[in-house]
Amino acid sequence: MPEISRTFLDPKDIDVSISEINDGIYRVAGLVNTFGITYNQFLIDDERPILIHTGPMGLYKKIEEKVKEVIPLQRLAYVAFLHFESDEWGGMKFLESANAKLVCSDLSSKLNLTGWYDVPVDHISFWDNETLKTGRRHLRFIMTPHVHHWDSMMVFEETTNHMLCLIPIEVLESLQVKNL
Ligand SMILES: [Fe+2]
Repeated sequence: MPEISRTFLDPKDIDVSISEINDGIYRVAGLVNTFGITYNQFLIDDERPILIHTGPMGLYKKIEEKVKEVIPLQRLAYVAFLHFESDEWGGMKFLESANAKLVCSDLSSKLNLTGWYDVPVDHISFWDNETLKTGRRHLRFIMTPHVHHWDSMMVFEETTNHMLCLIPIEVLESLQVKNL
């Protein structure tokens, strides 16, 4: 039986890149070579910029470097989590952005954020079809419980028709939501 201790991903093993996939919408991708897995985060630079996911804790600082290539961290108005897991949430403790409000699903709020001692309680929770306007971009939250995780939601950016879901495409295809 292995003994497990707190470990960090080795930053030498991670390649993080940023690319603008549409006007002001960026994908921050962290490839962890050891696992052969890419962790994707999204930054929407708008009047009130939003970062969707921080990545796991060992990846966070490199993600932050890429975010700061686009905006000063203090401009972040929102940090959103589409579900509560370490690979989406793990960098949260390291995020130094005093003005950023936490955004999550109502299920994340009820099942997780209000039930842990060391998790920030102040947040905004969204339910199915509710929207958040960050300026010229309009994010519609779509509840998808038990898709990837029991509190999962996806985000549909209505002005560019981008689905920001962060789950494997095979799952999307099985749900037949790819034509949204
Ligand atoms: Fe996840």
